[in-house]
Amino acid sequence: MSGQSTHHDSRPAEPAADGDGGFPPGPDGRPVIGNTLQFTGDPHAFYDELASYGDVVGYSVARQRMTTVLHPDLVQQVLVTDSEKYGKWTLSDFGTEFAPDGLLLTEGEQWRTQRTQAQPAFQLDRVRGYGEAMAGYAAELVDDLDDGETVAANERFSELTLRILADSLFDLDIDRSEDGAAITRAARALNERADPDGLSTFVPQWVPTPSNRRFTGAMDEFEAVVDRLIDERRAAADADEHDDLLAILMQAGDDGDGMSDKELRDTMLTFLFAGHDTTSLALTYTTYLLAEHPDVADRLREEVDEAVDGETPGAFEVFGLELLDRVCTESMRLYPPAYVIFREAREDVELGGYEIPANTKLTLPQFRIHRDERWYDAPDEFRPDRWTEEFEASLPEYAYFPFGGGPRHCIGMRFAMLELKLVLATLVEHCRFEYVDDEPPQPRMAASYLPEEDVRLRVTKR
Ligand code: HEM
Repeated sequence: MSGQSTHHDSRPAEPAADGDGGFPPGPDGRPVIGNTLQFTGDPHAFYDELASYGDVVGYSVARQRMTTVLHPDLVQQVLVTDSEKYGKWTLSDFGTEFAPDGLLLTEGEQWRTQRTQAQPAFQLDRVRGYGEAMAGYAAELVDDLDDGETVAANERFSELTLRILADSLFDLDIDRSEDGAAITRAARALNERADPDGLSTFVPQWVPTPSNRRFTGAMDEFEAVVDRLIDERRAAADADEHDDLLAILMQAGDDGDGMSDKELRDTMLTFLFAGHDTTSLALTYTTYLLAEHPDVADRLREEVDEAVDGETPGAFEVFGLELLDRVCTESMRLYPPAYVIFREAREDVELGGYEIPANTKLTLPQFRIHRDERWYDAPDEFRPDRWTEEFEASLPEYAYFPFGGGPRHCIGMRFAMLELKLVLATLVEHCRFEYVDDEPPQPRMAASYLPEEDVRLRVTKR
């Protein structure tokens, strides 16, 4: 069977003295600045180096003690089994005050309450309700594409996913609403701000660099828009008729114990950040992979044609499509849009036989673990057919975790999967893509796994 690896029983490498291995081994770096330059200079090469030290690697960045975890069982320990021993952090901890009261970054009781309040918005029947807008906007994109045109896929999909998100969050069509520009600017500023390549993440927010000024300006503008939308909604006679996330979160407050306006605003901002580029990147890399594998694209087209028969694909059709599912799974294995998960030890912890002191920051890099040949044969190859039930059953659970895991797994997973599938189904039905450049896209370590250059595809309409 293709893709089947025979090494699934591999255990994490243990240090000699079990449980007393000290801080994990790793690269020394230069004094004072630690591994800062290595980390920001060429992060991919840096992670290659880390992997040579074993499954738990210790080092320092900007004097901060770091540990990278490279074994699925230990990822599971951090995210699931021992999840209460670890808190969250992001690269923006180095300065940005990004939506501190939003679901992505809150902790403890505040997080638990918010998660419970937001959960109904992401239940399957609700998510299916967003399907119509997803398919509708995807169809508009297809109409917009000209036969023979070359497009920057990343840009087109970024516009599309933002449009879908704004509709699902606020019931707004950003292309036709006056608030569209403010929402677009906020989404752009967030991504620019969280991009460590520019080192802006390491500069505190009060330093008036151009990027910081743009960020602050865009956030102020966004907050004003969301505040106004909340006020208008509260005052509107037809408030009950909205079925968007804002309505659901506001309803969660009807019993008097709801989110404050600040929490509401930060949560909307969080969804805008967490749900935009991630989904757009998944679409970008998947269409690139399909362009490079026309045989798979043809089979996918047949599968979709048979299911939808010329109609607009709906949620029910796409959920049952096996190849579509495998294509999405395999694409996010190779190019996980959220490519690293960050945690911080709240207390002294033991991991793989090593001692990790409190406050150590941990990275759990999907982009490495998803391409580890201990779990995947020919790990760099796009082989959707490897995802048989048998293969999945034999894979360690956390050898694949594009949406994270444990209590803080992605709340938008179903939303993202439906969006991915509906958009791809709509695209393959009407278009073929050809990758026009010689070199494959180079992902870089920004807030998400953005390609270094535009991913340019030539479109043929059918
Ligand atoms: C392909 C698309 C997506 C990917 C790959 C993705 C990935 C992830 C990952 C890995 C996490 C866990 C982070 C951690 O543990 O530190 C996460 C959390 C989260 N995601 Fe997503 N995501 C996607 C789409 C979305 C969408 C569409 C939304 C919302 C509309 C969303 C909202 C969130 C939120 C709010 C959290 C924080 C949850 C919590 O801490 O309770 N994501 N996502």
